[in-house]
Amino acid sequence: MTATPAFERDPARLARAFPADFTWGFATSAYQIEGAAAEDGRGTSIWDTFSRQAGSIADGSNGDIACDHYHRYAEDVRLMADLGARAYRFSTSWARVLPTGTGAINQPGLDFYQRLVDALLGAGVQPLINLFHWDLPQALQDRGGFANPQVVDWFTDYAALVASTLGDRVKDWMTFNEPAVFAFLGHADGIHAPGLRDWPTAIRVADNELRAHASAGRAIRGLVDGAKVGVAFDVNQVAAATESERDRVAASRWSSARDAWFLDPLFGRGYPALGLEAHREAGHLDGVELTEPPAGDLDYLGLNYYRRDSVRAHSDRAFDWEIGAVEGSEQTQMDWHVAPDGLRDTLLDLHRTYAPREIVVTENGAAYPDAVDPDGQVHDADRLAYLSRHVAAAAEALGAGVPLTGYHVWSLLDNYEWSLGYSRRFGLVHVDFDNQRRTPKDSARWYQRLVKEKELTLDLT
Ligand code: FCB
Repeated sequence: MTATPAFERDPARLARAFPADFTWGFATSAYQIEGAAAEDGRGTSIWDTFSRQAGSIADGSNGDIACDHYHRYAEDVRLMADLGARAYRFSTSWARVLPTGTGAINQPGLDFYQRLVDALLGAGVQPLINLFHWDLPQALQDRGGFANPQVVDWFTDYAALVASTLGDRVKDWMTFNEPAVFAFLGHADGIHAPGLRDWPTAIRVADNELRAHASAGRAIRGLVDGAKVGVAFDVNQVAAATESERDRVAASRWSSARDAWFLDPLFGRGYPALGLEAHREAGHLDGVELTEPPAGDLDYLGLNYYRRDSVRAHSDRAFDWEIGAVEGSEQTQMDWHVAPDGLRDTLLDLHRTYAPREIVVTENGAAYPDAVDPDGQVHDADRLAYLSRHVAAAAEALGAGVPLTGYHVWSLLDNYEWSLGYSRRFGLVHVDFDNQRRTPKDSARWYQRLVKEKELTLDLT
């Protein structure tokens, strides 16, 4: 670990580290921005159901309207193009194109994504389509959801439908966003849809995601000439909360049972021994028959990076530990520990451990409580500093040989932050949810300057 953070050392040199064809983009997801939940034949997803369950969402809200992007996509595309975006990572809503998950196609739903893709290409922005950002059609959940092995076929058919519709114009594909969050937060912790609390189910879900990725990846490559297929995986920096042996052991067991649990199989190594031991000891594998999942064949690995997670063990038992920010650390409004060097180190670790062909930072960003000032501007100095320092850390990784080809900010717009509802703002563009007015924040101008003028600065004057 270096003493002076990368950004402070030499921002101008770091900004020049990015090659001319580096893909600067924005990321969003369907349920978090689209709204139009009951329009044009869209089916119900598990997030429509979950967000209506009492106590599930901090502010009791849902994504029925969200950023109304379904109706305002043209304005949003203009906005991102103005801000210099070269790429845009968005997700398609499975229930919008296949209302019950399989069978009957909803043409108006597919048409929406056609319009969106055409608008992006017209504005010179490369689309990156993510097929699954957690909003499974409810009809499929009713048939067991991702715990049902049939989901591999359901997902492959859905992927093939979208790929055959948009594959003539879209080459960049992503099968899953954060499969670990979907599996574990949705099926073991119960704080995301579908709200289950059963570890063996979560383990089955994870296994089926890996199988669905491999199968859908093959289908996409068969349909789209020159397709690049990847996954976005959230790897935050995992550290022991203290120097104690117990915390250090817990940190490595947790990182194996969570991150390597997906990454090792994706890179053809099967489930990791340490993770297997931890899950088995905690009873998570009771009644589960695990066989080796197929390798993932990734053209790129997407990295969603936000923070450092410190692991504090309560005892020597697996999963008897607590994960979070250490006391006194610099934190965002999510209570996430700000650790830009962790981005550099995570990129280096992934490169050394798995040697993916390419790595793309598919999400990075921060929530802070911002508001439109009387001068009509949003002065989000905290976010701007967070982003600058993380971009500088990414530049360092690039300089150290990591094949990093792109960086997507989470997010273009303030949006529906899952179980926290609208109480956390991650956008570079502020959204007034009363009237849907969009106001680019200072961080948006900063990003524009970075992309267009290669300037990495905290000073916008
Ligand atoms: C990631 C999610 C994304 C958003 C950010 C803040 O885990 O992929 O949808 O919620 O966190």
